[in-house]
Amino acid sequence: MDRIYLDHSATTPVSKEVIEVMMPCFTEVFGNGSSQHFHGREASKLVDIARKQVADAIGAKVSEIYFTSGGTESDNWVVRGVAEAYKTKGNHIITSMIEHPALLKTIEELTRSHGIEVTMLPISKEGFVCIDELKKAIRPTTILITVMAANNEIGTYQDIETIGKIAHDNKILFHTDAVQAVCSMPLDVVAQNIDFLSLSAHKFYGPKGVGVLYRKNGIKLGKHITGGEQERSMRAGTHNTAGIVGLGKAIEIAVRDRDKNNKYLSELRDYFVSEIHSKIENVYFNGTKSDKRMPSVANFSFEFIEGESILLRLDLVGISVSSGSACSSGSLEPSHSLLATGLPIELAHGSLRFSFGLSNTKKQVDYVVKSLVEITDNLRELSPLFARKEGGTFNV
Ligand SMILES: Cc1ncc(COP(=O)(O)O)c(C=O)c1O
Repeated sequence: MDRIYLDHSATTPVSKEVIEVMMPCFTEVFGNGSSQHFHGREASKLVDIARKQVADAIGAKVSEIYFTSGGTESDNWVVRGVAEAYKTKGNHIITSMIEHPALLKTIEELTRSHGIEVTMLPISKEGFVCIDELKKAIRPTTILITVMAANNEIGTYQDIETIGKIAHDNKILFHTDAVQAVCSMPLDVVAQNIDFLSLSAHKFYGPKGVGVLYRKNGIKLGKHITGGEQERSMRAGTHNTAGIVGLGKAIEIAVRDRDKNNKYLSELRDYFVSEIHSKIENVYFNGTKSDKRMPSVANFSFEFIEGESILLRLDLVGISVSSGSACSSGSLEPSHSLLATGLPIELAHGSLRFSFGLSNTKKQVDYVVKSLVEITDNLRELSPLFARKEGGTFNV
């Protein structure tokens, strides 16, 4: 069997429709969008079309869309730009314990360099931000609330509309990292009370290295990159025309096919989840089983074994998945998001994220489940913890 890719939360392949619209940007429409001649104007027109496609997809105006190099840059820009622009108003930022490192590390850095104070909202067992804690955390000096729309590890959706309303009722700006959400969750920046929103094309079948920051008109934000007049002089640098064109098409397709894709992916995931529960013991589903989650993600903890060991064995039989641990400085750190849900550290170490995509099939799921049964049986036979049956009592 061909290799099976179950890591679509990490990145997606670029769809054929997207490649088709990108190709001319490398050959005929190669001009620099800032040039005033024909070639420049042609490139600039394509960037304008993409800006409109993005604006339409999230209920924004074209003048509110800024192209960036991806989700990390957009998240960095918001946090640094708000801290700078609102420093006379306050220095307090509220975020959640399960945000992407693009936000958490940036805020942490600002606590050292700019005296920013941060409140990290706790997370329920199912992965939801506690709204009461959010209300309690608000101070007169709070300048930004930033909570992601969908989590990249367990797929939980946050109630961004309510969070945005609380922010606005208290005259605080609201940013949401919608990098994982946009494929499956309808986004409307007006109805959902969003002031800033981050996107990244490679999570929705577009190219890598291109993203979006939405900024509501009239809201202050520090300039991000200086030097040229691109992106209204806020983010200078020659446009990545091909990437931007690909992003525009990809988001148009994501919105067009959202309902159909959600149905397909949730059926596939539900089949996978029920197969795992019926064929493997001592396995725990992480996150929520309610409808407030991405249809493409299933995160499990396999007791008595390391997620990393399963990942490597799956790789050997042609299956690509992601573990809940991040390899940093030689040591395997368990996922901060899973720990935030109260999962014991051993189970966080034993976690794997399976993220489905449009090319996955039920036949592939059968092969993955069969492989997982063999691999977990084999690894548990070698596990001293399993021999002593330590654990097995975690109540999820
Ligand atoms: C929720 C979230 N935010 C931000 C990012 C970073 O996006 P990019 O890879 O475009 O820098 C990711 C990527 O994994 C993500 O999942």
